Amino acid sequence: MEKDRRNFLKKASAAGIGLSLSPSIAFSKKKKKKNKALIGLIGVGARGRSHLKLLLNRSDVEIISVCDIDPEAIEKSKKMIREAGKKMPEFYTAHEHSYQEMLKKEKLEGVIISTPWRWHVPMSVDAMKCGVYAGVEVSAAMNMKECWDLVDTYEATKVPCMILENVCYRRDVMAVLNMVRQNLFGELVHFRGGYCHDLRSVKFNNGKQYYGGGVEFGEKAYSEAKWRTKYSLMREADIYPTHGLGPLAMYANINRGNRFKSLVSIASKGVGLHDYILNHPKGGINHPNASKEFKLGDVITSIITCENGETILLTHDTNLVRPYSLDFRVQGTRGIWEVDADKIHLAGKTKDHHWDKASETWLKEYDHPLWKKYEKDATGAGHGGMDFFVIHAFVEAVKNKTEPPLDVYDAAAWSAITPLSEASIQLGGEPQTFPDFTRGKWMHRSPIYQQPTDNILL
Ligand SMILES: NC(=O)c1ccc[n+]([C@@H]2O[C@H](COP(=O)([O-])OP(=O)(O)OC[C@H]3O[C@@H](n4cnc5c(N)ncnc54)[C@H](O)[C@@H]3O)[C@@H](O)[C@H]2O)c1
Repeated sequence: MEKDRRNFLKKASAAGIGLSLSPSIAFSKKKKKKNKALIGLIGVGARGRSHLKLLLNRSDVEIISVCDIDPEAIEKSKKMIREAGKKMPEFYTAHEHSYQEMLKKEKLEGVIISTPWRWHVPMSVDAMKCGVYAGVEVSAAMNMKECWDLVDTYEATKVPCMILENVCYRRDVMAVLNMVRQNLFGELVHFRGGYCHDLRSVKFNNGKQYYGGGVEFGEKAYSEAKWRTKYSLMREADIYPTHGLGPLAMYANINRGNRFKSLVSIASKGVGLHDYILNHPKGGINHPNASKEFKLGDVITSIITCENGETILLTHDTNLVRPYSLDFRVQGTRGIWEVDADKIHLAGKTKDHHWDKASETWLKEYDHPLWKKYEKDATGAGHGGMDFFVIHAFVEAVKNKTEPPLDVYDAAAWSAITPLSEASIQLGGEPQTFPDFTRGKWMHRSPIYQQPTDNILL
């Protein structure tokens, strides 16, 4: 089956079809255990190299090829591969579209895309068209057309695309998922989440060197500050919704029995970046960036309504001074969890009208079986271990030729927050309707991790 598919793709490529749409490729529904996944990486900057490190640790992955246009990123990757004692892959470095050559030439089964946002969709689409599973970093898409491009390409090719939303695998998030699935919160009613992280002063390069993210951006900056800060100049929207939203969508079974229906968004004024530049020792009133006008409001607040009646309060807050938070709250008829306060209340289990300290009690008792099983493997992986799980889920899906747990419909629905919030803000908070990216399939699709053993991770 797999050989047929590859032969077809080779012939298609030889016939000059290149990256144009190949006919629907039926993936085997039968689970086929395979020893190694043949993986490529596009983008080996800060994030791509943290994925590379995890992949190098695995005996069930062969890294076939790596593509990046930054010589420093390539050199650092080569060093990592050499030090891990693994076979040197092919490198594609010539220009911004070299990844297409890599997708066509190499025998890849999956590719991990960790490039700046504007590349996520073209790269994912091209990967799917080449018969290569796409694992795409967050956010997956930045406008509505891109959301549909992902869905349409998946539906035409049947080659999966997984959004690599690592927060869905955070230990406390998964413990709460375990409790949700066991009905400890009762019927779910309201959620809160967000991306609340002062990105202006993030220290890059292992914290050894300060690159002034926020004071300098564009070519003078390093890593994300090269491209990310520009979005604060260009767009007034929730430009990074998925860390705060992905876990809530998983709890609420979005695209699997439920769906996002509508959204309203409002923006505060945006003064945080300007203030930062003015007051930074390397900035000041005469710094060229002190005269830039930032479009992005400092706090973007959205309220999403779901088909089954739940509401979600979502925040984007990256340009003011503040400690990191994803701001989670999960509330139902029988319980409530609030992440920042580390508080939980469960009807009939905690004392009436009192909170328990969540991390020391219920989150320990309901630690997810996946975390129990893979705790050792996850130790040392990025972001407290959750990065291990998201890569594990992708690699397992590639090896077994199955659908990944977080799929193209999740990628589209979660990313759609960006264009919808932008439209709502422009219209003074007018409600915006979500497209049904599943075209009605949400009514019949099963929730993920309904049982801990679901989705082939165990
Ligand atoms: N899930 C998470 O926790 C998490 C954390 C950090 C970053 N991210 C996401 O990962 C992505 C990358 O972020 P980063 O911090 O690594 O940024 P980065 O700037 O450090 O790395 C991006 C890399 O992509 C390369 N690149 C750019 N255009 C390319 C092209 N056309 N072909 C090949 N390579 C190209 C750059 O040279 C660079 O090395 C972003 O989407 C970001 O949002 C996710």
